[in-house]
Amino acid sequence: MGFVIAIDGPAAAGKGTLSRQIADAYGFHHLDTGLTYRATAKALLDAGLALDDEAVAETMAREVELAGLDRDILSAHAIGEAASKIAVMPKVRRALVEAQRAFSKRQPGTVLDGRDIGTVVCPDAPVKLYVTASADVRAKRRYDEIVGRGGVAEYADIFADVKKRDERDMGRADSPLKPADDAHLLDTSEMSIEAAFQAAKSFIDAAL
Ligand code: C5P
Repeated sequence: MGFVIAIDGPAAAGKGTLSRQIADAYGFHHLDTGLTYRATAKALLDAGLALDDEAVAETMAREVELAGLDRDILSAHAIGEAASKIAVMPKVRRALVEAQRAFSKRQPGTVLDGRDIGTVVCPDAPVKLYVTASADVRAKRRYDEIVGRGGVAEYADIFADVKKRDERDMGRADSPLKPADDAHLLDTSEMSIEAAFQAAKSFIDAAL
């Protein structure tokens, strides 16, 4: 098994940027596991299938190709919403977790980010980070990102959405979002991207 860095945390906490930076710095493979839930949701939406049929959703989950995941194609708000709905289904989770675990065995090492990597997918990972930020800061970052791309958004809607996604991810019975007992907590509310990267690097270097 390669060296696994497990990164969990709520939506818009900065996990994605941090995970990509870490993977680049160490020459490790990176998997954004949120994309596996998003790809499953998109396949259901594209086929016009209901989001509440667990057996159908599981079939779609088993067909997800890790090599073809693209955040640009999967970033739509409706896909994120649908992803968080099907992510409560144990059979969908089991199918995607199998694929994620297979990925985590790649050499020389991997960075997986999501909600349950340190708790469920790779509980033996030598480095676990729980990256978080206040709901207000996360909503503000998402707002700035949308407006920065020339989009239109209401801060209040985004804030409500962040809270709703947190409740669904933290409140579900199967694999709720929570820090693993042995995770290092990284609150990025008042941290620059570079400072978060340096903090993560010190935890990783101590474990390598
Ligand atoms: O991180 P992202 O917003 O792309 O994830 C979409 C949804 O997929 C999340 O809201 C969450 O419900 C689900 N997810 C999950 N477990 C993971 C990654 C994502 O349940 N490891």
